[in-house]
Amino acid sequence: MNDEKAKWLDAAMTASSKKTIKELFAADPRRAKRFSAEAAGWFLDYSKNRVDRKAMKALVRLAEASNLREEIERMFTGEKINRTENRAVLHTALRNCDPAAKVMVDGRDVMPDVRAVLARMGDFADAVRSGGWRGHTGRRIRFVVNIGIGGSDLGPVMANLALTPYAKRSLRFFFVSNVDSTHLAETLRQVKPAETLFIIASKTFTTQETMSNAAAARAWLVERLGDEAAVAKHFVAVSTAEKEVAAFGIDTANMFVFWDWVGGRYSLPSAIGLSLMIAIGRNNYAKFLKGCWKMDRHFRTARFDRNLPVILALLGILYSNGYGAETYCCLPYDQYLARFPAYLQQMDMESNGKSTDRSGKPVDCATGPIEWGEPGTNGQHSFYQLIHQGTHLIPCDFIGCCRTHNPIGDLHDKLMANLFAQTEALAFGKTAEECRAEGVPEDLVPFRTFEGNRPTNTLLCKELTPETLGALIALYEHKIFTQGIVLDIFSFDQWGVQLGKVLAKGVLSDLTAATPSGRHDASTNQLIARYRAAVGR
Ligand code: F6P
Repeated sequence: MNDEKAKWLDAAMTASSKKTIKELFAADPRRAKRFSAEAAGWFLDYSKNRVDRKAMKALVRLAEASNLREEIERMFTGEKINRTENRAVLHTALRNCDPAAKVMVDGRDVMPDVRAVLARMGDFADAVRSGGWRGHTGRRIRFVVNIGIGGSDLGPVMANLALTPYAKRSLRFFFVSNVDSTHLAETLRQVKPAETLFIIASKTFTTQETMSNAAAARAWLVERLGDEAAVAKHFVAVSTAEKEVAAFGIDTANMFVFWDWVGGRYSLPSAIGLSLMIAIGRNNYAKFLKGCWKMDRHFRTARFDRNLPVILALLGILYSNGYGAETYCCLPYDQYLARFPAYLQQMDMESNGKSTDRSGKPVDCATGPIEWGEPGTNGQHSFYQLIHQGTHLIPCDFIGCCRTHNPIGDLHDKLMANLFAQTEALAFGKTAEECRAEGVPEDLVPFRTFEGNRPTNTLLCKELTPETLGALIALYEHKIFTQGIVLDIFSFDQWGVQLGKVLAKGVLSDLTAATPSGRHDASTNQLIARYRAAVGR
């Protein structure tokens, strides 16, 4: 972080550490309103943070000192900001709903291709949903199995669950990611070959897990249906790699493309969203894209002190770099968002888990936080104890939807009451005096006291819909982008995952070869030997 940026972070910290959240509320009756903002169907209350107006101003100056405005434009206009891979970063083009929009990459407008793939996906989704697309034996498709991993899995899994109320219930969706054969085997037990469509989703079409599972699924289908030609009606591919798709044996007529300027963890609004589109239909999918686009426009145009992604990003940096918070917790109070924390984990940790700055030097600040979370209220009966009274500072985002898709008695009121109460308890705690006034015996007072002053953001929407889900995803994408810019790291490569992949190939050959090479360290050689002995090699 350069001197100018460090100066603004210091100024934010100085202002921030003067008062507790409780004192900040006492000092400013308009605080809740003042520290709230709204965009694309989401209301953000960030008043329960350790910031006053001075601290927020300093944080905004930190963003300005990072040239955030210019960097946003560079991303949206297709500059090759992913420098280590020499690629543009244009997931925003995938959901650009302006029919006149042009987005140039290497002197070529990418929007006609984006629209053409969307239209093809729509036709295909219609055909599967209506029964127009039939399996090899003429039966309707009733099961859809997406085979992919990382960004080719987590987004589809999360969004298919999140939008269950909009899904065609006569179709069942499965997601196979792990190279553990149990994942595929347990899935295949639940589907019928003649009624199953496999979507092989892989940006590169070379990922070991996906290609191995795809080959096994293909062998299973051909064996069950007794005809190699069945593959044409039961396998489609989503990828950027036409040659690899053809080499695998999927007709490229059954391929939905996307492009190298879409990062894997940002690819849900590309053809990677095909399973989602089949589930919810093309119209709902269009609303999902529109939600992303609304948040994109907000991020691109709103002033930083009203800009939801920027506010969340700056607060995150205050806690990670000012207060030394190492983790950050995402707590959706909506069962349909149960996989949202896992989706965010890849988005954030694969993007900003870096220790080299943009000039190639070691960073001098904390980069991406450790991200985790679970849906409320389950977390309350598990790890919230540590958030309330533990020794770590853990900033939390609470996410709630005012209306439920499944009203049953007063369950939803209870759910939301818990959400609001948790943020209140974390911010305001409970003093020893309050405990005593409640009659808590003196020897228990130290244990029943809550320090409070634990920061939270609350994000509220009216209802979880395709549009609000799209906006929520874009909100976090842009938060992570902003943090990358301020922390001066490249957010769109992921070299850190390569080494393990390469080593796994060498280990695999030592597991299966007649004689292992013995070229690993003593521990790895020992593990290989033990495995070989256990499986009789
Ligand atoms: O884990 C590394 C990674 O490259 C992710 O970035 C990506 O989402 C995942 O693997 C899957 O890659 P692909 O879509 O090419 O199979």
